[in-house]
Amino acid sequence: MQPAAKAEELAARLKGRDFLGLVDYSSEEIRYLIDLAIELKRKLKAGEVYQPLKGKSLGMIFEKSSTRTRVSFEVGMYQLGGQALFLSRNDIQMGRGETIRDTAMTLSRYLDGIIIRTFGHRNVVELARSATVPVINALSDQSHPCQALADYQTILEKKGRLEGLKVAYIGDGNNMLHSLMIGASKLGIHFASASPEGYEPDAEQVKLARDFARESGSRIDILRDPREAIEGADVVYTDVWASMGFEEEQKERERAFQNYQVNEQLVQYAKPDFLFMHCLPAHRGEEVTEGVIDGPHSVIFDEAENRLHAQKAIMAAIM
Ligand code: CP
Ligand code: NVA
Repeated sequence: MQPAAKAEELAARLKGRDFLGLVDYSSEEIRYLIDLAIELKRKLKAGEVYQPLKGKSLGMIFEKSSTRTRVSFEVGMYQLGGQALFLSRNDIQMGRGETIRDTAMTLSRYLDGIIIRTFGHRNVVELARSATVPVINALSDQSHPCQALADYQTILEKKGRLEGLKVAYIGDGNNMLHSLMIGASKLGIHFASASPEGYEPDAEQVKLARDFARESGSRIDILRDPREAIEGADVVYTDVWASMGFEEEQKERERAFQNYQVNEQLVQYAKPDFLFMHCLPAHRGEEVTEGVIDGPHSVIFDEAENRLHAQKAIMAAIM
């Protein structure tokens, strides 16, 4: 926990900001959001009503499917005293070609915040540039920062610390890998990933993470061998082999990723008290075996729950 004066300074700094990626947030700002998420979780469980967003409205633009993100933002906004509007791309004029800029300018006249789940990350950036209210990235092909924030909250709750831990990510160099890696590099967490050839993380994201890691004293290892990546890990993370938008590559990805399954043999190389994590939805029998994802090390539903608390923290802080 940060001292009260520091927390106040951070709160003032966050007001009105967008939340497009952990890349734009300092380590102390990320820690502030995690601490706030833990406090809001405590309040909710204690039955304390906390409604700083009374009378405010959040627009939620979705171009892809969602269970956790949609429900946790909608419920979170309700709990904070406001309301949320689900705006499926197919139901708004954006789906018929209205520009992102016109959409952003229009929605800003009604709403107090906008979240967007989309394909190209440039859509998120363009929406944020044109909107006059805070914009939150609810997943793009490049990143999924809301999930990573909830995941680092989960790790802190389970392990009691963040700095000095090792997170191993096995699988596709996708949005999830990027956000976890950037988060680790800011929070002083050693991050090691293993991906097959052709499915490595984006070089620019890796460079950014390595620059942050130099400051925080962490290490970023982008590897090929899953065993090497998982060696001594406190956290073992994986995600689907074919993300939303890549479904037609499913068959060739199954071949490419066949040695990248998180299974009982592989997790033997992690620390004995490792946590297994997955952002969900999962494909049991592909990227992870049933025994691991439904086993005693798995914290997948704590992660899912913490989406609610972490996103309430983001909304309370920036809106
Ligand atoms: N993890 C996650 O973002 O889940 P949804 O796709 O269900 O929102
Ligand atoms: N990488 C996955 C995450 C889903 C929450 C996808 O983009 O489909």
